[in-house]
Amino acid sequence: MKRLLCLPILLTGLLFHAFAQKNIIVQADKPIAPISPTMWGVFFEDINFAADGGLYAEMVKNRSFEFPAPLMGWRELKQKGTGRIQIINEVERAPNNRYVRLISSQGIYGLSNEGFRGMGIHSGKKYNISFVARSLNQAPVNIHFEFINHNGKTIGETSIPVNSKEWKEYKTAIQSTDTAQRGKMQVWIENAGGVDMDMISVFPHDTWKNRPNGLRADLVQMLADMKPGFVRFPGGCIVEGKELANRYQWKKTIGDPDKRELIMNRWNVEFRHKLTPDYYQSFGLGFYEYFLLAEDLGAEPLPILNCGMACQYNSAELVSMKDLDPYIQDALDLIEFANGDANTKWGKLRTELGHPAPFNLKILGVGNEQWDEQYIERYKEFEKVLIEKYPEVKLVSGSGPSPDGKWFDYAWAQLKTSKAAYVDEHYYKEPQWFLNNATRYDNYERKGPKIFAGEYAAHTKENPDAESRNNWESALAEAAFMTGLERNADIVHMASYAPLFAHVDAWQWRPDLIWFDNLRIVGTPNYYVQKLFASNKGTKLIPLTMNGTSLIGKDSIYGSAVIDEQKKQIIIKLVNLSHQRQTVNLNFGKSNVKGNIANVKVLLAGKREDYNTLDSPEKVTPFEYQTAVKSNKLSPELQASSLTVITVPCKKF
Ligand code: AHR
Repeated sequence: MKRLLCLPILLTGLLFHAFAQKNIIVQADKPIAPISPTMWGVFFEDINFAADGGLYAEMVKNRSFEFPAPLMGWRELKQKGTGRIQIINEVERAPNNRYVRLISSQGIYGLSNEGFRGMGIHSGKKYNISFVARSLNQAPVNIHFEFINHNGKTIGETSIPVNSKEWKEYKTAIQSTDTAQRGKMQVWIENAGGVDMDMISVFPHDTWKNRPNGLRADLVQMLADMKPGFVRFPGGCIVEGKELANRYQWKKTIGDPDKRELIMNRWNVEFRHKLTPDYYQSFGLGFYEYFLLAEDLGAEPLPILNCGMACQYNSAELVSMKDLDPYIQDALDLIEFANGDANTKWGKLRTELGHPAPFNLKILGVGNEQWDEQYIERYKEFEKVLIEKYPEVKLVSGSGPSPDGKWFDYAWAQLKTSKAAYVDEHYYKEPQWFLNNATRYDNYERKGPKIFAGEYAAHTKENPDAESRNNWESALAEAAFMTGLERNADIVHMASYAPLFAHVDAWQWRPDLIWFDNLRIVGTPNYYVQKLFASNKGTKLIPLTMNGTSLIGKDSIYGSAVIDEQKKQIIIKLVNLSHQRQTVNLNFGKSNVKGNIANVKVLLAGKREDYNTLDSPEKVTPFEYQTAVKSNKLSPELQASSLTVITVPCKKF
């Protein structure tokens, strides 16, 4: 009897749940807070071959023979030829001391370069070659360059005479006749003779904006498509170095690329299971190029500087407090380099490099992922000097490697009353953490520094494909979490997924936002989430409520909404975490949107385990459709496990 009584109650409950109206109120007339223009940005670090071998378009590995093993990346080329190769170290050429001496007595004798896990060569494209050389003979020495594919077939070639006994720069180009995924370049002397060569370099002609010493255009385009609010550079742990000697020093990364001192990339030896012995930093992509990139993207440049501390996971080396001044001076000089006019020392250098206009640096980070007293002690010294001299530049301080725990609590306790404009928080956690933390900032302290969610990514299980950890499960959890960041836009002013780029054949860390090889590139589901948020950022946060409360997981729905006052739009982001479709009723209240055509962008996947690969790049990509708003209401069906971004034109909020 008891059972019989319970059944109707249960059924009514289930039916009520299934048919309960999901009435969502959109209050565009009640803006809560401005959305920071910097809200969604990108975090760039030279990890996973992101710079050398990636964004930096140089195709020759170890072009200046400065790797500790001077011929790493190069091989003797001997095709019925004889000769010899010497590596010469000449102190007065410092910091690029070494060069190669090539002597050929007959036949084809020279060098071949393997590129960064091969050279990506596109059919019909032009590739610019440059090198410095001097002839060891009276008569000119003809240098032959050619691209070969993985079968050894020539797919483009050229020759150029080296006609001077003095060091001189030479330039030529190859038009390729075929595509090669893992091509190589061969260099040899056509006639018997000898030559000294250095900085043997090949760039695609079509770099981003056709700049010499430029960037891979397809990779930059992916960033441009995101419309990021800021570009954080150059990292990441790379800022810290394993030891202080190996830290990132911006002054050594500007000016003539030939004079930028190469150092080991710390990710070379970071993970024993992922050693990358050929990973070095040429700094061809240096601070000037980073500033240009941010400018090109219309994003705020956000450099992070070393604060006198090497990575605490490695040597944890600290510069003594009495020796901290040069580090602080580097920060002062960087601000002058970015913003000073041509009458200042560093502003003059920027002008000479080709950029008389300032870069308008507004935000600067001190230290990457440091923790404990030693960090706060050093940060406060920077703060004292920087705020005094440049009060207009906002400082980013850090809260360590975890989003909670004793170091995190200690940092926040110290920084709450500091003059830091932002505190950088990092979270690399499982998807469930992101769902649990969708409310993380709802009850955060509103006074004091704002939040910079500077590095985050949902980490799922390992899988053989490089790109597999970037599955839809992780991206969906991030999307739900990001509605929480947006809902707290009054205190969350910046956020960036990390890391940004990874080469499928040379990665150390995953997941990553964008994967590439030498020819191709693929956006992960996480990339499309970032792009949907960043390109629909809006200008003001507005209330979005269901039964009077924010959308933070009830009925598996997460959501947030903004208005864009320039574009005159209401933008609603909804994440349906349920495995079922759900219809919601959006009520626009006092804002008259009746009859307007809404644009609906949907991102979903067949399965939560789905991910994009270079071979199958469009498995998880957004699609869109238009629908008319009837009677000031819209009832979109939220697909199972989906992110939906709805844009409704609205003349007056
Ligand atoms: O994003 C990869 C690494 O994670 C960064 O270099 C570091 O800041 C963090 O530990």
